[in-house]
Amino acid sequence: MKPPLRVAVTGAAGQIGYSLLFRIASGSMFGADQPVILHLIEIEPALPVLGGVVMELQDCAFPLLAGIKPTASLDEGFKDVDWALLVGSVPRKAGMERKDLLGINGRIFTGQGQAIARNASPGVRVLVVGNPCNTNCLIAMNNAPKVPRDRWFAMTMLDQNRAVAQVAQKAGAETAAVTNLAVWGNHSSTMYPDFYNARVGGRPAIDVVKDDPWFKGTFLPTVQQRGTAIIKARGLSSAASAANAVVDTVRALTTATREGDWFSVAVCSDGSYGIEKGLMFSFPVRCDGSKWAIVQGVKLTDFSKARIAATEAELKEERDLVSELLPK
Ligand code: NAD
Ligand code: LMR
Repeated sequence: MKPPLRVAVTGAAGQIGYSLLFRIASGSMFGADQPVILHLIEIEPALPVLGGVVMELQDCAFPLLAGIKPTASLDEGFKDVDWALLVGSVPRKAGMERKDLLGINGRIFTGQGQAIARNASPGVRVLVVGNPCNTNCLIAMNNAPKVPRDRWFAMTMLDQNRAVAQVAQKAGAETAAVTNLAVWGNHSSTMYPDFYNARVGGRPAIDVVKDDPWFKGTFLPTVQQRGTAIIKARGLSSAASAANAVVDTVRALTTATREGDWFSVAVCSDGSYGIEKGLMFSFPVRCDGSKWAIVQGVKLTDFSKARIAATEAELKEERDLVSELLPK
């Protein structure tokens, strides 16, 4: 057996936590031969509920679960962790945009960034899920300058999965046949799922579907507004599909990407495609199993370029709103 990986999950007693922890402990995230120790981080008032989640984890008798550490201390929670999955934060309610949460959630990520830098394993990787995830990740990363910038990620995989499902349904294809569907930019209503480069069974999705008005008038708003539609229907934000996307993101960043394909994750921009350096921006990314890289040379139509510029403008606006949380 390999030595266990230590995985911190913040907001572990919340909705996403309740779906996510069992997937990690069962081996879905790191594989059937990789033991894990779960560091479950919550705020003090949620510790009794977390105690119940811990009992349920124990009651699954997962062979790969080598330990559970529930805590309200960030220093204890992030001690020696290999992965930090930052979920804990307040979800939006109906009528809000995700960026309306910045005032409530932004501050959480200063202390978490600092605690990760003080305590985590030297190779730690951090995935931010709590909204608005791109800018929360920007805050955490800038409060942890010792942790290299290529270790910070914000989640847009849920948007990619939503986009893939819509295209598969429209094309009458299996979801596995839909590839190269990158979501660009912010996890917000300005996100841009680039249908021009998407493929179905290896052919351009636009040639298979042959319905440009559907892509622009139905597909785009459906994907961009899916989170809102779920909140309206459930009275709560997406949780099981979000947890599934966390599993997919970590797997995508720890396994080799299929030949010719790519996946979506927000990373610290290096200036690729003219996106301002330092913004947490979702790009098409490939991974060789340990190192990731932004895919270069993806052809963008004028329509795509305009959408990408709009989502970049929103991320700059969000960054400026939290400037006091970003140490100079
Ligand atoms: P939830 O309210 O059910 O759970 C959040 C948990 O976080 C609670 O248990 C709360 O006690 C805890 N928490 C709050 N502040 C904390 C802190 N400072 N430290 C540790 N824990 C803290 O919410 P949820 O449905 O699990 O959603 C969590 C976040 O994920 C929200 O911000 C939501 O908008 C976001 N989200 C993002 C995506 C995405 O695709 N990026 C998808 C779905 C949800
Ligand atoms: C989602 O996309 O489902 C989440 O970001 C939750 C939300 O607020 O929409």
